[in-house]
Amino acid sequence: MVGRVGVIGSCMMDLVTYVERMPEAGETLVAPRFAMGFGGKGANQAVAAALLGSEVMMVAKIGGDPFGESTAANFRAHRIDCRFVEKVAGVSNGVAPIFVEPSGENRILIIKGANDHLRPADIDRAEADLVACDLILLQLEIPLETIYHAVALAARAGRAVLLNPAPANPALDLARLRGVTFLVPNQSELRILTNRPTETPAQAEAAARMLLASGIGHVIVTLGAAGALWVSASGTKPIPAVAVAAVDTTGAGDAFIGSFAHYYARSRDIAESLRWASRYAADAITRPGTQKSFADAARFAAFCAGL
Ligand code: RIB
Repeated sequence: MVGRVGVIGSCMMDLVTYVERMPEAGETLVAPRFAMGFGGKGANQAVAAALLGSEVMMVAKIGGDPFGESTAANFRAHRIDCRFVEKVAGVSNGVAPIFVEPSGENRILIIKGANDHLRPADIDRAEADLVACDLILLQLEIPLETIYHAVALAARAGRAVLLNPAPANPALDLARLRGVTFLVPNQSELRILTNRPTETPAQAEAAARMLLASGIGHVIVTLGAAGALWVSASGTKPIPAVAVAAVDTTGAGDAFIGSFAHYYARSRDIAESLRWASRYAADAITRPGTQKSFADAARFAAFCAGL
């Protein structure tokens, strides 16, 4: 069965500089390499699900500039339904300068550009198609009002919705997330959301439990090299990581969520979908770039066969 995934989210052009180390204030350093690639948490998650074989629709705003044009072409190349991807004239596409250190660690700046123009009315226009999806994905690179509107729409329609609260936004109102099926933060996003320590798995679990009390179905905390923790009313389940040599971790979270969406949309099996997501994210971090590092179904099958 082919699942249908709806993504309401951001598009960025990633400008990636690979550094030996970050410069100090006032210092100029030579960096060994630069690369450009398609990014944005929404677009990344959409592309991961599409590469694995889901039917994917995207609701987004792109810039009225060459980056916007090439972003739309990239969606078409991945057979993503972009009838609800609209260009904003006179506004730049989202852009993300990214710095990656030799360890694979990254630092990201985002200039939201057109992404800030995605409004509740845009969600309403796509409603009939969105409620036909098996799972709707949201992240925080678009206005919060649009997020709340989409959550309410999905809840009314009884659709599963996943919110990735990234990048962390302390203004996010938990009371307006009632009805979110899956909340997928990393440890620092969870700390900011709950104002609790989240360094150890036990702390992360306690913080995640607080969120269940605000009407969220499942909290899945991503723990980087330590895997993930799935916390729900029926208990807590650790999801093991797959050990690999990391080259670039920039797209790891999006690879995890996009692949989880793909497997969940067709199976509704949360535990199994999380195990696939953990493997898919591990494979992605062995290559540089964000979307560029994501495997299609055949390449991912080959990675899994080698485990
Ligand atoms: O999650 C990684 C993404 O965050 C990058 O592609 C960048 O565009 C930012 O949105």
